[in-house]
Amino acid sequence: MPAPLPIVRYNDPVLRKVGARVAKFDAALAALADDMVATMHAAEGIGLAAQQIGRALQLCVVDLREAKRDFTWELDGAKPPLELFMPFALANPAVTALPSDETFYEEGCLSFPGIRGDVARPDAVRVEFRDLAGVPHTLVCTGLLARCIQHEADHLNGVLFIDRMDKKTRATIDDAVKTLAKETRVAAKA
Ligand code: NI
Repeated sequence: MPAPLPIVRYNDPVLRKVGARVAKFDAALAALADDMVATMHAAEGIGLAAQQIGRALQLCVVDLREAKRDFTWELDGAKPPLELFMPFALANPAVTALPSDETFYEEGCLSFPGIRGDVARPDAVRVEFRDLAGVPHTLVCTGLLARCIQHEADHLNGVLFIDRMDKKTRATIDDAVKTLAKETRVAAKA
């Protein structure tokens, strides 16, 4: 049975690791993705990367069924209802920004409880990824879905949302980030 796992917090070193590419699309990978979905749902998140459960792997899960649907998506050239493919796992995602305006949005991250800040990202992206059976897909999307996927794909490369903030925004959360890093250090020693 899928079970929620503890979520790794900043500044655990695994969050800075570049994930290994998924090479085996087997039952163990599917079980890991199921656990990640259970973890994401238990934490009421919309996305989760493998690094956040302590695995440096190019795998993330996303579920925006409960979000406001002010975004667009095209999966393999079609527009299936979200209920048909979410929650879904993306293995080895490669994100390409499409010509679009940069938008600012206040992001959070399950590895940074209570910390939020504006991050600028392109509004539209194309993401090539493999599903849990190893089948390649292309998703073109905008808005919150595009933002969520960019945030998760960053995690898979050891990049965190605080790295994407401008200096002024980053400064406003600096104390909270330092406190969190200290708490994580203390918890690791306990
Ligand atoms: Ni995150």
